[in-house]
Amino acid sequence: MSVTSKNLSVIILAAGNGTRMQSSIPKVLHKLTGKTLLNHVLTNIERVKAHEVIVVLQKEHEEQIKSTLSQDCLIAIQKNQKGTGDAVRSGLEVANQENDILVLCGDMPLLSASTLSKFLGLVSKDASAVLTSVFHDPKGYGRILRDKNNAIHKIVEESDATPKEKHIQEVNSGVMLLRSAFVRKAINEIAPENNQGEIYLTDLIEIAILQKHQFDAINCASEDEILGINNKRHLSIAEAYMRKNKTNALLDKGATIIDPARVDVRGDVSIGRDVEIDVDVIFKGNVSIGNNVKIGPFCILKDVSIADGSIIESHSSIDSADIGSNCIIGPYARIRPGVKLEEGAKIGNFVEIKKSSIGKGSKVNHLSYVGDAEVSAGVNIGAGTVTCNYDGANKHKTIIEDDVFVGSGSMLVAPVTLKRGSTIGAGSTITKDAPSQSLTLERAKQVTVDNWSRPTKEKK
Ligand code: UD1
Ligand code: CA
Repeated sequence: MSVTSKNLSVIILAAGNGTRMQSSIPKVLHKLTGKTLLNHVLTNIERVKAHEVIVVLQKEHEEQIKSTLSQDCLIAIQKNQKGTGDAVRSGLEVANQENDILVLCGDMPLLSASTLSKFLGLVSKDASAVLTSVFHDPKGYGRILRDKNNAIHKIVEESDATPKEKHIQEVNSGVMLLRSAFVRKAINEIAPENNQGEIYLTDLIEIAILQKHQFDAINCASEDEILGINNKRHLSIAEAYMRKNKTNALLDKGATIIDPARVDVRGDVSIGRDVEIDVDVIFKGNVSIGNNVKIGPFCILKDVSIADGSIIESHSSIDSADIGSNCIIGPYARIRPGVKLEEGAKIGNFVEIKKSSIGKGSKVNHLSYVGDAEVSAGVNIGAGTVTCNYDGANKHKTIIEDDVFVGSGSMLVAPVTLKRGSTIGAGSTITKDAPSQSLTLERAKQVTVDNWSRPTKEKK
C-alpha cells in the first residue's frame, strides 16, 4: 500500500443537514439492516487500521450521535454547514498535523473494506486521489472531467454542470486521499464560487493542478458500493442491496432458503450445515444456528443461538434466548429475553416464556405462560397453565423440579415450588409448595343441579 496506515487520519463527513431525508433524525443515524449508516462506515474502515478516526458533526447532533458510535472516534464540530470543503477543514483542526487524510462520507454505508484498501493501494506515491465509479445513471453526483491524457482536471457538481457535462458517467464517490502538506494549505484556498454558494471539497482538484500536486482519479468501485444515501428511496435501495448480500452469504454457506427475496438478515447470522429457512424470516442482532436446524415461515429471531437439530415452527418470535439441540418451538410461540431451553425441550403453540430455564425433554405445549421459572427435566406443563409471577409490585420465582406433571389450567402462584415427581390436578390454584411424588389439587367440590332447564330468550 502506497499509503501508510499509521500516518493516516480518517475524516468522516457527517455534519450535513440531510434535508432530503425529510426526517428529524440526523441522516447518519438512519439504519440499514438495523445498524446506523455511520456505524456501517466505521465497520468498513476497520481494516484500514488508521491512526485515528474523526467524525465531523454539527453541534446540534453531537450528543445524540456520540452516544450511538460503535467505536472510539474523535469528534470535530463544523459550525455552519458551508459545504464539504468546510467540513474537511473542521476535521483537520482535530486531526494529527502530520497525517495524510482519508475523507469519507457518513452517508456511504456500502463502500466495502476491500474497495477502500484497493483504492489506497493504487494511489501514486505522494499523490492525492479521488475514488471514482462509472454510473449507469449519474444524476445527482459530481462528474469527473478528464483531459486528453485521461488525467482528472475538475469535478463538476450536478447543479453547476452544463448539459454536455451531465452526460459524463464517471462520478465522484466522495472518497479522497489527501496528502497532509497539500490539504492543510489548499483547504483554505477554496472559494464558494458555485451555484450553491458552498465550499466544495471537489475544488481541490483545480487547486492541486495549479500547485502541480499530482491528483489521481481512480476508478475502482462498483456503482452499488458508491451509493450515497440522500433520501429514503436511496435508503431502501441500500437495504435491498445489503439484504441480498447477506442472504447470498447464507446460501454460500449451504443454507436452503425457500425464497431469498423474503429473508431479511438485519444482523449477523452464522449457520451450520443443512439449515432450512422458510419465507419471511427476520434475523436481528447476533444469531447463531447449528446444523440441521429448520426455521418455519414468518419467524423473528433476535440475538438467539439455536443448537443442532432444533425446529422453529411458523410465526414464532424469539428474543435473546439460548435454544438447545433438538428442541421444537411453535407455531406461534413467543420466547422473551432470558430463556434457556435444554436439549429436546418442546414449546408449543401460543405459549409465552420469559426469563426461565426449561430442562431436558420438558414440554410446555399450548396456551401457557411461564415466567421467572426454573423448570427441570422431564416436566409436562398442561395447556393453559400460568406461572403467576407478579403480585402487582414484585416478581417471584416458580421452581418446578424433575418429572413434575402439571394438569391443564393450573395457576401456580409464585413464589412456589413443585417438588420432584409431584402431580398437580387440572384446574388447581397452587399457592403452597407441592410435595414430592404426590397429587396436589385444589378445586371446589363439583355439584350437579338435576332437571335444570336453560334460560330461554325473552320475547319482546
Ligand atoms: C457530494 C460531492 C459529490 C459526490 C457525492 C457523492 C461535493 C461538493 N459533492 O455531493 O461530488 O458525487 O458527494 O455522494 O463534495 N457534509 C458536511 N458538511 C457540509 C456539507 C456536507 O459534513 O457542510 C457531509 C454530509 O453530511 C455528507 C457528505 O458531507 O455525509 C456529503 O454531503 P452531501 O450534501 O450528501 O453531498 P452530495 O450532494 O451528495
Ligand atoms: Ca451525499
